[in-house]
Amino acid sequence: MLYPRAALMCKMRVMNQTTAPDTGPRLFAAHPGLRDKIPWTPLVNRPTPVQLMERFSRRLGAEVWVKRDDLSCPHYGGNKPRKLEFLLAQAAHRGKKSLVTIGGIGTNHGLATVILGRRQGFKVTLLLFAQPVSGHVRQNLRLYHAHQAEMILCKSFRAADWRYRWLERLKRPGAYFIPAGGSNQWGALGYLEAGLELADQVKASQMPAPRAVFVAAGTCGTIAGLAAGLRLGGVRTRVVGVQVTPPQAANQALALGMANQALALLRRHDHSVPDVSVNAAELVIDTQHYGSGYGAATAAGSRAMELMAETEGIGLEQTYTAKTLAALVDHARDQPGEGPLLYLSTLSSVDLATDAAAVDPRDLPQPFQRFFK
Ligand SMILES: Cc1ncc(COP(=O)(O)O)c(C=O)c1O
Repeated sequence: MLYPRAALMCKMRVMNQTTAPDTGPRLFAAHPGLRDKIPWTPLVNRPTPVQLMERFSRRLGAEVWVKRDDLSCPHYGGNKPRKLEFLLAQAAHRGKKSLVTIGGIGTNHGLATVILGRRQGFKVTLLLFAQPVSGHVRQNLRLYHAHQAEMILCKSFRAADWRYRWLERLKRPGAYFIPAGGSNQWGALGYLEAGLELADQVKASQMPAPRAVFVAAGTCGTIAGLAAGLRLGGVRTRVVGVQVTPPQAANQALALGMANQALALLRRHDHSVPDVSVNAAELVIDTQHYGSGYGAATAAGSRAMELMAETEGIGLEQTYTAKTLAALVDHARDQPGEGPLLYLSTLSSVDLATDAAAVDPRDLPQPFQRFFK
């Protein structure tokens, strides 16, 4: 057997992960003073499992684990439900009835906001801008429509951003505005909570402490929260955010700022939260796998995507997750024997193909029909 220790951990994992799922955030259990001060609504089946990817590891010659956040929620999984537990709760707490958010035409964050926001009774408006069209992008466009989102196509990212920052705020004073990717200090709390969850899984020997965790960095809320949560949970590792958006959106200064703002926010609300911070060695950005732009496929990404499908049956897409796994693969090859690596699986694996197929693209608002030609 290639990884005896890993195999033993795997058995322990099966034993440990068959216990009943836990309920509320670890954050509130550890710091009860936060419970009444930080709005939160349950969306996530926690904890999401951690698994050794045996076949993938054997093919790569490195021990690689996965945290299955793709299974985070039965309606739409991936990394967005964790952020929305705090964001939708903020919106409700402020008495808002509608949500406005922004993203590329294939935004998974937009889709999660539509599906989970609509289930909580919010109206949802998406300010969208063009990106390279793929099957995944087309499916998301159909699904926004299937879930009754108001879809507005803007000429460019700049135009969408301007509408988000100015025009729509004037037009819709009663709406709650969620930033791109759900990334601000509230959204980051969702991943801070995930970091605490992962720290508990390591402490409970469900997996070894990873040398590095690979995560897509789009708007940085996921890596920021995760690094903050791991720090708070006492697991010293390195979060590697793999840049998948332009450097203005995915960079280390922004990620560190968001991580430390989230920790400061908690401390302001409850002094029992330890005075810790995330440093530049604990949260780094891989800029080598971005390729020619946001949403543009890379050859290394395509290879990683194939390997994952072949060995573990976990589906990836080209914008976020293929590039992230490609970075992990290259890292494992460059630094053999470094120790266990963890891939955070952030793409929803809920199959919505039937819902999407039920939508005729000709029923979409007219400006979006060109993406089907
Ligand atoms: C599948 C997937 N993974 C990762 C990310 C990146 O998360 P973040 O924007 O928090 O960096 C996104 C963002 O939309 C995503 O859709």
